Amino acid sequence: MPFTIAIDGPAAAGKGTISKAVAAHYGFAHLDTGLLYRAVGARMLDGVEPIEAAQTLTSKDLEAPDLRSHEVAQAASKVAAIPEVREALVDFQRAFAQRQGGAVLDGRDIGTVICPEAEAKLYVTASAEVRAGRRYKELQGKGSELSFDAVLAEVKERDARDSERASAPMKPAADAVLIDTSELSIEDAVAAAIHAVDAKRAAG
Ligand code: CDP
Ligand code: CDP
Repeated sequence: MPFTIAIDGPAAAGKGTISKAVAAHYGFAHLDTGLLYRAVGARMLDGVEPIEAAQTLTSKDLEAPDLRSHEVAQAASKVAAIPEVREALVDFQRAFAQRQGGAVLDGRDIGTVICPEAEAKLYVTASAEVRAGRRYKELQGKGSELSFDAVLAEVKERDARDSERASAPMKPAADAVLIDTSELSIEDAVAAAIHAVDAKRAAG
């Protein structure tokens, strides 16, 4: 039977890390929906008109090597505000959510717009400073010379754009379980997520 776990929240809150661990725990498939918007953003940077880029997206576009960059993240959040871009990506995400073996989707609007009927919804968050610190560490590991302040500004700018847009703004679903990871280790954050999902599964 399909069982959908929706995990939303702002940049670098730990959604991806938690989603992968939760999917592995239950043997579910995992879709990082941010990658879809990043792929459209990357195509826009290559000169493709964003709506057309979203409507003609293929799995090959999700394999571009630079999708995790700062520039692509900004482009992603710009194209993500265009209603036709979001609309073009809905069917793929909903079909993924309906997999028989169960699915975990992480993003910004999974619990509110893509899968409002998801059996379990989590909203993962952390302070902007903690999130920027995590992203900064990741970027440093990749040889980036961006300053912490530049990363913090990027994270805050993207949060503002994502939460203030008219189309599917980032926000917790009314029935989402909130997990603040600011002071949690990855292990504790994953345990909190599994605990919340187990409670939903037990409730039927
Ligand atoms: O997917 P999202 O952008 O929300 O975040 P992520 O890529 O899962 O996590 C961002 C970074 O924070 C990664 O380097 C994680 O290892 C780290 N992290 C952490 O330090 N503590 C947590 N409780 C969760 C994630
Ligand atoms: O990893 P991080 O949290 O930094 O970003 P991401 O999840 O890869 O998402 C990149 C951008 O795509 C976000 O800033 C949003 O603008 C957009 N996005 C969205 O609008 N809706 C989603 N379901 C997922 C991502």
